[in-house]
Amino acid sequence: MRTPLIAGNWKMYKTNQEAVELVRELLRLLDGTQDAEIAVCPPFTALSEVSRLLSASGAPLALGAQNLYPRKEGAFTGEISPPMLKALGVTLVIVGHSERREILGEDDELVAAKVRAVLDEGMKPILCIGERLEEREAGGAFRKVEAQLEADLATVMQSEAAGMVIAYEPIWAIGTGKTATPEDAQEMNSFIRGRLAARFGEEIAASMRVLYGGSVKPDNASELMAMPDIDGALVGGASLKAEDFAAIVRAAT
Ligand code: PGA
Repeated sequence: MRTPLIAGNWKMYKTNQEAVELVRELLRLLDGTQDAEIAVCPPFTALSEVSRLLSASGAPLALGAQNLYPRKEGAFTGEISPPMLKALGVTLVIVGHSERREILGEDDELVAAKVRAVLDEGMKPILCIGERLEEREAGGAFRKVEAQLEADLATVMQSEAAGMVIAYEPIWAIGTGKTATPEDAQEMNSFIRGRLAARFGEEIAASMRVLYGGSVKPDNASELMAMPDIDGALVGGASLKAEDFAAIVRAAT
């Protein structure tokens, strides 16, 4: 059985002080939660403070980052390296989010290098893939997702794959309030697992978590999480309110 993972992607929200308040509230609401892995991915500026709070609480909440630069150190002004994140207690890193691909122009080559860098540092990538609305309407969603998987996982070895998380995030569903139907999301997640099986073998693919992301809210989370190939959620907007995020965690368990 795969343990569901619910990860909150805070994006460019929450000052340090606001982040501390949100985590305190989450720790209170999620106290005693079992049968799910929970992670928060604050902005870089709040990682240190949130890390301290989480360690002091002893709660099993994982710390994630939203991005990194795939070099250990160097003259890369404004970037953050894998060892810097690792040293703060970060265990998960979101890679290839569509906002980085679409707004900041990240291509599959850079995304693949980031996946490699996260694994090399002993952390877990949450690799985001998903199609644009026009690609879905033209019947190209599966082709797009397959191509992203192939390119972004190019250097991943079979022995490393089990630690990876894939998040299917149709771009048209992110922050729009439009969710994929549970059936559509299940169809794509099952397709993704099939591609992972072809690449890494059935057994490893069966152990890998494939999340859904895109307007997951307390009122649609149960239906989505009930699907056999949806192993959790990457939650944006609804992760910024402690009650909503906690309700989504409850829906997954
Ligand atoms: P959303 O974002 O939940 O606000 O749609 C999801 C994501 O971007 O990971």
